[in-house]
Amino acid sequence: MSRIEEILEKAIFTKDDLLYLLNSADKERLSLFEKAKEVKAAFVGKKVYFRGLIEYSNYCKKNCYYCGIRAGNSRYIRYRMTDVEVLEAVDYAYKNDYASIVIQSGEQTNKAFIARIESLLKRIHGQTNGKIHVTLSLGEQSEATYRRWFEAGAHRYLLRIEVSNPSLYLKLHPNNLSHDYNHRLEALRTLRKTGYQVGTGVMIGLPFQTLSDLADDLLFFREFDIDMAGMGPYIEHADTPLYQYRNELLPLKSRFDLSLKMVAILRIMMKNINIAATTAMQTIDPHGREKALMVGANVIMPNLTPVKYRQDYLLYENKPCLDEEAEECKSCLEARIHMAGDTIGYGEWGDSRHYLERPP
Ligand code: 5AD
Ligand code: SF4
Ligand code: FES
Repeated sequence: MSRIEEILEKAIFTKDDLLYLLNSADKERLSLFEKAKEVKAAFVGKKVYFRGLIEYSNYCKKNCYYCGIRAGNSRYIRYRMTDVEVLEAVDYAYKNDYASIVIQSGEQTNKAFIARIESLLKRIHGQTNGKIHVTLSLGEQSEATYRRWFEAGAHRYLLRIEVSNPSLYLKLHPNNLSHDYNHRLEALRTLRKTGYQVGTGVMIGLPFQTLSDLADDLLFFREFDIDMAGMGPYIEHADTPLYQYRNELLPLKSRFDLSLKMVAILRIMMKNINIAATTAMQTIDPHGREKALMVGANVIMPNLTPVKYRQDYLLYENKPCLDEEAEECKSCLEARIHMAGDTIGYGEWGDSRHYLERPP
């Protein structure tokens, strides 16, 4: 047996195996992708679940060095969607059988914000007879807030660790308490304890990041026993401090290829979790999301944010779907998913099987 065959047969990958897979090229790279495709079909099926994405607000109290909507960037007009706008987006999702939405925003922890999310969750639940599942992606919050939102009807939470290496984390964020690695890790633990299906993820191809870091990220996901993952290439943004390192980055194509490999390897490692085909992948390759679906991803997030806000929610440059209304993204994604040979799980929540099958 060749080395790649031997690795792909293993029940548990070591760090060396992960490095070998991340470095794979040509035929070996294709064997990795083929294996991931088989695992996806066998363990989660060739079905893709929609999560309608509502980019609720671009106010953010943080200053992550990579992100376009960081507090320190004054280029964007700050907005907050109205309740009516949110409920209209939810209604669109409901009528189109999306079954699931994601509410995402910059990090805000003031009382008014917390209360508005709680009230929106209750109204969403009422308006859709509990048929729409809500995922939150609202950053680090206190245990009490996470509990309040859970009790108001949210069941999944996405909080990317961004990078699992604490010293790399320090290079990508200001060195202060609101950007503390351990606090973020603790927030992930609290989410798990509260009962959420927990999703995390990383950016790929960041300045100072090595393949060894990426292998450790994969080990981190396994160790933390995550239910869902969202990963994508890092894409530079001119209004951020990390832009100064743009000439030291891997070429976009390599960042994209590494992202595909991360998705494929994670699918093989954690067979029944949900993995997103992220928008950032399409920023680099026009068929990026389909390619991710073909190597193991099973979740896609059609954008439901009103078009007038989209140009102000640019975490990175060249983000796609800036002018496309919900309806256009829907037909666009339907075509893409069919091209990838999958079907869409309309009307299904598509909960993480990993979460449902976890022993009590
Ligand atoms: N490139 C790619 N992804 C980014 N994010 C933030 N900034 C960038 C960037 N420049 C990601 C982070 C965050 C998610 C919402 O968007 O991982 O968790
Ligand atoms: Fe705020 Fe999130 Fe951007 Fe950091 S990555 S600046 S927390 S929106
Ligand atoms: Fe929005 Fe293709 S997904 S236009």
